Amino acid sequence: MDNLAIFASGNGSNFEALAAACADGRISAHVALLVCDRPGAYVIERARKFGIETLVLDPKTYPSKADYEREILARLDAKRIDWICLAGYMRLIGPTLLEAFEDRMINIHPSLLPAYKGAHAIREAFEAGENIYGVTIHLVTSELDGGRILAQERIPYTGRDLDELEQMIHTVEHKLYVETVKKLTHESTH
Ligand code: GRF
Repeated sequence: MDNLAIFASGNGSNFEALAAACADGRISAHVALLVCDRPGAYVIERARKFGIETLVLDPKTYPSKADYEREILARLDAKRIDWICLAGYMRLIGPTLLEAFEDRMINIHPSLLPAYKGAHAIREAFEAGENIYGVTIHLVTSELDGGRILAQERIPYTGRDLDELEQMIHTVEHKLYVETVKKLTHESTH
C-alpha cells in the first residue's frame, strides 16, 4: 500500500477528506505523515483526531529553504513516503523536494487552471464576474500552480454569494481529491 504525506498550512479540510477516505478504505493508501509549516494550524488538530503522525516545522528557524526541506525529506524517507499531496500548503516547493518527488507530488487548486493562479483564486474569479468556476489537481513543478493537470472539474455558479461559492468549491475539492488520489495510488506499482 502506498504511503502518503500531506502538506498543509491551515484549516485542513482537504487533509481531512483524504485522511477519512484512507481510513475507511475508499482509498487504498495510508496517510503516514502530516507536514505542517504553521505551528498552531487547525489541521494539526485534525491529524490528532485521526492518529496521524505530524511533523510541524517553522521555516523561519532554518538558515535556508534547502535546510528546511532537507529536514522534511529525511522524515519522508524514514516513513517511506510514495506520494506528497499538497492541501493548502502556502509555500513554494524548492528544488530539494521537487527533485526527490518528481511526478510524485500533487496539488489541489480552487480554479480552472491556468486561470487564477495564486492564493486568492476564488475571490479573484468571483470579482471578475465569472460564472464557471472550478477545481484543478495537478503535478507540482517549480512554477506556482503549474505542472501537468491530472483532473479538473467545472462548477457553474451565477449567484452573488461568495461564501456559498466557496462552500460549493470546497465540496467539489474534497470529492475530486479523493477520486484522483484513489486513481493514482491504484495505478502505481511500486
Ligand atoms: C483549498 O481551497 C485548496 O484548493 C487550496 O487551499 C485551500 C485549502 O483548504 N490550495 P483546506 O485547508 O484544505 O480547508
